[in-house]
Amino acid sequence: MSEEFIMQMRPWFGPEEKRALAEYMEEDGFLTEFRRTAAFEDAIAEYTGARHCIVTNNGTISLTLAALATGVRADDEVIVPNFTMIATPNSVRLFGARPVFVDVERETLCMDIDAARAAITPKTRAIMLVSANGRYPKAGIEAFQDLCTEHGLILIEDSAQSLGSRYPDGTHIGRKGAVGSFSFSAPKIISTGQGGALITDDDDVAARLRRLKDFGRAQGGNDIHDVIGYNFKFTELQAVIGQEQMKKLPWRVERKREIYRRYREGLAGVSQVSFFDQDLDHTTPWFIDVMVDDREALQAHLKAAGIGTRVMYPPINRQKAYSLPGSYPISEEVGARGLWLPSASQLTDAQVDRVTAAIRAFYG
Ligand SMILES: Cc1ncc(COP(=O)(O)O)c(C=O)c1O
Repeated sequence: MSEEFIMQMRPWFGPEEKRALAEYMEEDGFLTEFRRTAAFEDAIAEYTGARHCIVTNNGTISLTLAALATGVRADDEVIVPNFTMIATPNSVRLFGARPVFVDVERETLCMDIDAARAAITPKTRAIMLVSANGRYPKAGIEAFQDLCTEHGLILIEDSAQSLGSRYPDGTHIGRKGAVGSFSFSAPKIISTGQGGALITDDDDVAARLRRLKDFGRAQGGNDIHDVIGYNFKFTELQAVIGQEQMKKLPWRVERKREIYRRYREGLAGVSQVSFFDQDLDHTTPWFIDVMVDDREALQAHLKAAGIGTRVMYPPINRQKAYSLPGSYPISEEVGARGLWLPSASQLTDAQVDRVTAAIRAFYG
C-alpha cells in the first residue's frame, strides 16, 4: 500500500471557514472591505497588542506601504538582508528606492547588525529587518532600535513569517519598529489565500497607511483626494476566512512548536543535519528549516519516499533580477545547503517520524 504524499506545506481550511463564508453570502453584502475586515483587523491588533492594524492585499505591498507611509522615497537606500524572500527588496524597488543587501547571522538567519552598520551611507533611510522563520536577531532587537535612532533611520519589521512569535520580553514581533508587516499567503501559519497586515502604534502612520491603500481618500466613502494613493484593499470574503483562521492560531502556534521539537529529537545525532537557534519559548517556527549535506540527493531520496521539501531562498544578490557582486558567506551557505522540511500545522506525529526516519535512512 502506498503511503500518502507529505507536502512540504499546505494551507488548512475546515468546515468553520466554509460555514462562515456561506453565512456571509446570505447577508447580501458588498464583498469589498467593510465590517468583517474591521473585525479581522481588530482581532490582529488584539492578538499582537498593537494600537492599529491595517490589512492589505498581500505582504509585499504592505511593505511598500510601510516604507511610503514612514517617509522612504525614490533614490533612498534601504538596508535589507541578503537572505529573505525576494518580496522584501522588491517592495521598495517598486517605487525606485534602492535595496542594499547585507549578510545574516549564522545562528538565526536574521540581519547581521555589524553588516548593517557598515552598510549605512548618507543616503540610507531605513532598515527592513526580517524575522526569519519567526526568529529575532541574536544581537537583540534593541541593538537595531539603537542603531536606527543613532543614524536617524526608520525601522520597518518584515514579520511576514512571524505571526505568533514574540520577543523575549513578550512583545509581539512587528511591534518594535515603526511598522510591522505580515503575510497571509497560502503557506503562512494562517492564510486568506492572499493578504497582508500592517501594525503600528503611531496614529499618523496608521492614517497614512489607510489613505495610501484607498486611493488617497480623505475619508472612506467619499471622492476627495488630498494625496496620491492606490488600491491595495482587502475583501470581506478574505476577512471572513481570516476571522476563522485567527481563532485557530493559538492552537497552531503550539502545534508548530511541538512539530519542531519532534523533528529536533528525531534527528538528534545526525551530524549532516543542523538546526538554527529557534527560541521555542517565545517564537513559532513557520517552516522547519535546516542545513543539510548532499542536499539534492537528500531531496530526491525524500521525494521517492513520498515526502516534499523545498530549497531555501538563494542569496538575493545572485538572483538574475539583481545580479550584484559581493561576498555574503552565510546567505551563500543557506543557498547551497538550506532545506525546508514538511512544515504544515496539520502534520501528525507519525508523519514527522516518517520524515525523520527517511532522513536517517538516507545518511545511513
Ligand atoms: C519575509 C517575507 N516577506 C514578504 C513576503 C511577501 O508576502 P506575500 O506573499 O503576501 O506578498 C513573504 C512571503 O513569503 C516573506 O516570507
